[in-house]
Amino acid sequence: MSKNLTWHTSNITKTQRAKLKNQKPCVVWFTGLSGSGKSTLANALEEKLFNLGYHTYILDGDNVRHGLNKDLGFDEASRIENIRRIGELCKLFVDSGLIVICAFVSPFEKDRTFVRSLLKKDEFIEVFVDTPLEICEKRDPKGLYKKARNGEIQNFTGINSPYETPLNPEIHIRKEDIKENVGMILEFLNEGNI
Ligand code: ADX
Repeated sequence: MSKNLTWHTSNITKTQRAKLKNQKPCVVWFTGLSGSGKSTLANALEEKLFNLGYHTYILDGDNVRHGLNKDLGFDEASRIENIRRIGELCKLFVDSGLIVICAFVSPFEKDRTFVRSLLKKDEFIEVFVDTPLEICEKRDPKGLYKKARNGEIQNFTGINSPYETPLNPEIHIRKEDIKENVGMILEFLNEGNI
């Protein structure tokens, strides 16, 4: 970072923005293998929150990599930079008063911890979508596992690139029932007065 920078404090605070929206801003962070169901769950959760009158936004790996992060690949350094930028984006969105719903493979524990560290204690809710590799590979919605097995894709998570299991996620999802899973997340948010 350059030395010659000054932080400009805005006249309107995060608390004021959140109050106008009548909600407690936070990040619901879905992590798991490709094909585990992160995006499906993120969408189902957003729909539910939207219909309840909350202001939300989804950040999804495939989408963010179409624009903001289109210069990044899937080697370790690129994945770290991918999550770093998204973490900073989350911090800004939370400051804007939004409930941010993220769906990223985010395979490295230290990167997820980094995003957590940018936010306040109860603002980061890690949801581990624990779908076994065999099931993700069977689903293979984008045909990427097949390509990875054929050697057409390098560094594919779960095949030839590691996925570090979350150590202490707020929510651990093991079942396939979308309604039940969204219910579980909503319950958690309710308990935290979000
Ligand atoms: S992350 O590891 O850097 O967090 P991110 O969530 O942004 O990944 O992007 C993952 C998506 O990119 C997957 O859902 C999949 O569609 C696609 N993809 C393409 N190549 C790979 C790869 N080598 N490993 C994992 N996902 C990949």
